Amino acid sequence: MQLLKEKILNEGEALSETILKVDSFLNHQMDPVLMKKMGEEFAKRFEGKEITKVLTIESSGIGPGLMTALTLDVPLIFARKRKSLTLTEDLITSSVHSFTKQETNTITVSNKYIVPGDKVLIIDDFLAVGQAARGLVDICNQVDAEVVGIGIVIEKAFQDGGKELRDQGFQVESLARIQALKKGEITFAEEMEGATIHV
Ligand code: G4P
Repeated sequence: MQLLKEKILNEGEALSETILKVDSFLNHQMDPVLMKKMGEEFAKRFEGKEITKVLTIESSGIGPGLMTALTLDVPLIFARKRKSLTLTEDLITSSVHSFTKQETNTITVSNKYIVPGDKVLIIDDFLAVGQAARGLVDICNQVDAEVVGIGIVIEKAFQDGGKELRDQGFQVESLARIQALKKGEITFAEEMEGATIHV
């Protein structure tokens, strides 16, 4: 998605060979116009899938997830990483280990909102090793809901998550795929020559 790539090149910052900082439009401040366009793009890429729910994980998946759900006219559910005061019973849980943050979270969804027969589109902000997506797939499997696709804003194609999920048969659509990061340099997967320097 060209608009997203431009945003990454203009505002993103490669902090290291593995981490891309995009706090100005995705992970802290959110750009609602970009979010809306991303939601429309995801809806287009998964057209005809008869999606009944969009599922994401707090917190940065909520922006793109909500805009996708709005375009599709279906509810958004976000898995919680922290215990909720009001979410107390009939919970579906899965364990998600973050490779990037070196921490494990138990993620939780109420079985009131993801139900057998649902056709679920999973949306998340980043795809690295794929643990978050796997946890959300596991939650759907536990209630016999079908995962019809996985939409990712930024895929780090140099990590294995995308390949593994596609090998398992999932339709994974990423709006931007990063092939390489170096401090100050971002290279997209489709255009290895298009590296841009940031200082
Ligand atoms: P995985 O889900 O593919 O296995 O990825 P991983 O465990 O490595 O990622 C864990 C968290 O780190 C996720 O956020 C993910 O969005 C974020 N993350 C991973 N790589 C990057 C990166 O290069 N840049 C940025 N900005 N974030 C990255 P989270 O813990 O769910 O946080 P949040 O959604 O509350 O922001």
